[in-house]
Amino acid sequence: MSKINLSVDIAGIKMQNPVTTASGTFGFGLDYLDYFDVNQLGAVVTKTITINRRMGNPPPRIIETPSGLLNSIGLANPGIDEFIQSTLLDLEHIKAPIIVSIAGDTEEEYVELAERLDKVDKIAGIELNVSCPNVRMGGIQFGVCPEQVNRLTKASAAATQKPLIVKLTPNVTDIVEVACAAVEGGARSLSLINTLLGMSIDINKRKPVLANNVGGLAGPAIRPVAVRMVWQVAQAVDVPIIGVGGICDYRDALEFIMAGAASVGVGTWNFVNPTACVDIIEGLRCFCLEQGVKDINELVGCSWK
Ligand code: SIN
Repeated sequence: MSKINLSVDIAGIKMQNPVTTASGTFGFGLDYLDYFDVNQLGAVVTKTITINRRMGNPPPRIIETPSGLLNSIGLANPGIDEFIQSTLLDLEHIKAPIIVSIAGDTEEEYVELAERLDKVDKIAGIELNVSCPNVRMGGIQFGVCPEQVNRLTKASAAATQKPLIVKLTPNVTDIVEVACAAVEGGARSLSLINTLLGMSIDINKRKPVLANNVGGLAGPAIRPVAVRMVWQVAQAVDVPIIGVGGICDYRDALEFIMAGAASVGVGTWNFVNPTACVDIIEGLRCFCLEQGVKDINELVGCSWK
């Protein structure tokens, strides 16, 4: 069988293939060890970490909708101290690059997190989550404002040598403007999209289903929106893009790659099919073989280049 190159370079992070996990859907990579060898992944993107431990929002905080999941988890996580002192030790045996997602209530918190993670050799890159719709402070409040995104990215980039990946929200009028602001601020890669703000109402109770009333919609329903946004952003910036949003199989992954993503993040579908990521890697390999594509990078942005 002829050798296909699936490896990609995301801002200096060498991935053996383009497939990563979308933050928040894969824990810290440890929950999936019973299903497959996570070292087969291009990279593992962890659940977002904050300065302090967070219990997250009260339940119900996750519900199914047709072709999507609506969540309002509220960034439940153990906090940076426990992450560094304990979780990281468990991650020692993961050889795939680890990208740690971070979020803060304030700019200072993002900077502190970036500074602390900068000292950790095990970590290949940092994802700046400026797009969580489920927290009262920070998150999406930063992500909808290009000036804030620019400032936050600049401040965080100054605090670390590690590649900074900014995760963008789709809940904006013009995602290209926000993407350019992040790149101008020092983002070496962009990840898009996070969830679309949504709501569901229990008609018997006559109340919102989620305790937090609104949440973020993920899953196949948002894929065409995400592909469109990747396509727009890829034509406007010169940093590699990680495409995220409703990817279920290799065909979906290829849509993102052809739209301009160098890498893809699998999210909600990990809950439906825990081996989705490895199935997608295999699917990409077979597609390239069948189509005579020697290097997957040839396909990046081919729908408009
Ligand atoms: C959450 O924890 O609420 C979801 C994470 C996110 O949307 O960034």
